Amino acid sequence: MGRQFFVGGNFKMNGSIKAIKDIINNLNNAKIDPNVEVVISPPAIYLLLAREHLRKEIEVAAQNVFDRPDGAFTGEISVAQLQDSGITWAILGHSERRTILQEDNSFVASKTKAALDGGLGVILCCGESLDQRESGTTVEVVTNQLKAVAEQVKDWSKIVVAYEPIWAIGTGKVATTEQAQEVHAAIREWLKKEVSPEASANTRILYGGSVNDKNCKELAKQPDIDGFLVGGASLKPAFVDIINSKV
Ligand code: G3P
Repeated sequence: MGRQFFVGGNFKMNGSIKAIKDIINNLNNAKIDPNVEVVISPPAIYLLLAREHLRKEIEVAAQNVFDRPDGAFTGEISVAQLQDSGITWAILGHSERRTILQEDNSFVASKTKAALDGGLGVILCCGESLDQRESGTTVEVVTNQLKAVAEQVKDWSKIVVAYEPIWAIGTGKVATTEQAQEVHAAIREWLKKEVSPEASANTRILYGGSVNDKNCKELAKQPDIDGFLVGGASLKPAFVDIINSKV
């Protein structure tokens, strides 16, 4: 069986009750390709609202989760609390958290392990900066980010990898289909060597970074691009066109 196309909407710190209800209404009324797995990720305060109003076949992801059980961790949300609220995925390792909130590879790995152990799916983000790309270290940077996870996690069946070059995020500067495909293929090769042939064959590798309804179809044709993690465009009605990019 092939890899099911996967499209995630990462709302980041955007939205209001009204704006999120509008996005949900739009998704609920849209004709969505039934072969695509769709997950949206509103800010934490709107997760329950989303879960309550959204059609059931679309899942909801948190944009973060902590790696400890419930307890004295002010400001954090646990895996169990997400589970309790019907939130089935977490986005981890996003470059905004790695850079602005200084999350390092081992913390991302620890949170990934905790999320998987607690039964969540994980959208695991990786990606290089412009400097790193220009100095030719893209694959090394990305595989190091993944390696930290592989040291703690053997079963990758509930991980979806999102390759998000930092220079393409929110900049309108999308990676070319060749640039994206090249890194995706390198990630798949790395999975084969360092995790398992099964993980390499079955893990969805998403592209993220200025994906929109105009560029999605070409990207979606690449053999190792199994979907998208969409930021800005996921807040707009055209998100539906990105979800349906294979039809
Ligand atoms: O996680 C999605 C993301 O970082 C890409 O954002 O706005 O460039 O689609 P954007």
